[in-house]
Amino acid sequence: MSAHKIIIAIDGFSSCGKSTLAKQLAAKLGYNYIDSGAMYRAITLYFLRNGIHVNDHEQILDALSNIHLSFVFNEQRQQSDIYLNEEDVEPYIRDLIVAEKVSEVAAIKEVRSFAVAQQKKMGKKKGIVMDGRDIGTVVFPEAELKVFMTADPDIRVLRRYDELVANNPNITIEEVRHNLELRDYIDSNREESPLRKADDAITLDNSNLTREEQLEKVLEWVKDRATNVVAK
Ligand code: DC
Repeated sequence: MSAHKIIIAIDGFSSCGKSTLAKQLAAKLGYNYIDSGAMYRAITLYFLRNGIHVNDHEQILDALSNIHLSFVFNEQRQQSDIYLNEEDVEPYIRDLIVAEKVSEVAAIKEVRSFAVAQQKKMGKKKGIVMDGRDIGTVVFPEAELKVFMTADPDIRVLRRYDELVANNPNITIEEVRHNLELRDYIDSNREESPLRKADDAITLDNSNLTREEQLEKVLEWVKDRATNVVAK
């Protein structure tokens, strides 16, 4: 594999396995993995804890000026944890209470500008895999490789349910389905940088692929793009 570092942007609907693929790629290539959704989730947690109203412009700006986000590598998880004002909030941001509010918070223009400015800085040195909803379209329109992930909705519901049930034993499949459908709807129909496939993104439907098969496929694309970058 070429040593030339590129930017890999992964976008797609909720629970398509974006973070699984992004983590695999980062580990294999020695790249940095950034979960952009964790930033929106941490901001949402702050809003919930501090009773910030999603339509109070002043309150939102004031809240954002008090939020500092950072990623710190966690040896045990072999992945970065997100810190909200020096607190590791990784254990809280996947809760359903956050999931139910996050799409609404992520649709706010000021929140997006705040997060996107930080995400752009993280890509300065390349060698990064970032997943989200607007990475190939807004954050890194210049990314050398853009992947747009999809998967069968029923498969996505089951995947998310399996993820959540360990910490939320009372959760039902129907609740998970409703949350996923609602989030996909809001994420795709919001005014500010809605989820859409970049024109130059490659679609990856992983409904019937194993993790190994999907990694192998995308590594081929990386090889191709990294070589083209060197040849330029
Ligand atoms: O990837 P995730 O499910 O953790 O993302 C949580 C929410 O954040 C998701 O509903 C949409 C939003 N999001 C976004 O709007 N833009 C991103 N780049 C990443 C996430």
